[in-house]
Amino acid sequence: MIKPSPTLAITAKARRLKQEGKDVISFGAGEPDFDTPSVICDRAIQAIRNGETRYTPSAGTVLMREAVSKKFERENGLSYTADQIVVSCGAKHSIYNALQVTINPGDEVILIAPYWMTYADQIRLAGGEPRVIHTSQESGFKPTFDQLRGAITPKTRAIIVNSPSNPTGAVQSRETLKEIASLAIKHDFWIITDEIYERLIYGSVHESIAALGSDVYDRTITVAGCSKTYAMTGWRIGYAAAPLEVARAMSMLQDQVTSNPTAFAQAGAIAALEMPNDAIEAMRSEFEARRDLIIGMLNAIPGISCAVPGGAFYAFADFSETLREGETDIELASELLDNAYLAVVPGTVFEGPGCLRFSYATSREEISRGVNRLGDYLASRSA
Ligand SMILES: Cc1ncc(COP(=O)(O)O)c(C=O)c1O
Repeated sequence: MIKPSPTLAITAKARRLKQEGKDVISFGAGEPDFDTPSVICDRAIQAIRNGETRYTPSAGTVLMREAVSKKFERENGLSYTADQIVVSCGAKHSIYNALQVTINPGDEVILIAPYWMTYADQIRLAGGEPRVIHTSQESGFKPTFDQLRGAITPKTRAIIVNSPSNPTGAVQSRETLKEIASLAIKHDFWIITDEIYERLIYGSVHESIAALGSDVYDRTITVAGCSKTYAMTGWRIGYAAAPLEVARAMSMLQDQVTSNPTAFAQAGAIAALEMPNDAIEAMRSEFEARRDLIIGMLNAIPGISCAVPGGAFYAFADFSETLREGETDIELASELLDNAYLAVVPGTVFEGPGCLRFSYATSREEISRGVNRLGDYLASRSA
């Protein structure tokens, strides 16, 4: 059934070892290491002092939903009214709501592996079944049209798209998005698009699949949030935009489950959405420099190969040539933590066996130290 999150488990073990005084270098965390910008914190503190400490409408305050609506217009070329927007306790919660209101027991949802493992569990929580398409580094983690078409059955009810992706960092091309859109229209299924990493993108421009045309827009639920772009993981603010009837259903569901996301966190999120671009750009360009550093260093180690990711803050490196006969990536990850104090997440967690995921949401010094240590450890292992 539902599995515990291995990413959180590894992060917890790494923390424990650290508390015991071990020099752990963590590539495990899926969150920016930056502090939340002070303009956001100040607005939330002000909101508490102003008495914004009560229930808000379940789907979020009107001001917050208007700020999200303007963001979609400005950054994504998408026109959503405030009524079409539901603000939730993180994008994870938004995706949960989306699946609960679109999936019936027995329905299938297409996933493109390697994928963020929460999707599979949330599909099952809604009574559905994941139908997985496998992609690899060689194909740039892009599904082919034949793979997409082959995954469709009479039970297909939705596809989840995640670009840029966790865990691969892959950015899907406009061509692939168009293919997905045309199949969804032809076979009448939903597109749930998780665009949480939309602003952490290197060398290309983010494209929202819902902006490809009104027929795609009508069957798409667009999810994004504040966690990654603004270093706000603990604030728990995500949002979804959808056709009105779907947004209403999500809002009604939320009414009976959590009610509104935290009132003053919403106030902080408005400041985030209105923040000038340079503060975000400073974080984005630092991630890009870290990406270049870690990919160069990983590829310099014999037996490791890692495609250059176009977004997010993950390097999904192929270790299949390093693994011993019969050894799994799970065993290697565990050995690296126990013996070299390096925390990484095994690819099997994301249905990407033979790989390890490195989060580079950590300083360049730590990246250099960690990957050097990895190289030394692997060299001593094979000696
Ligand atoms: C692909 C993806 N979607 C959603 C989330 C969750 O974001 P939030 O903190 O807004 O719930 C994550 C967090 O790791 C993620 O990697």
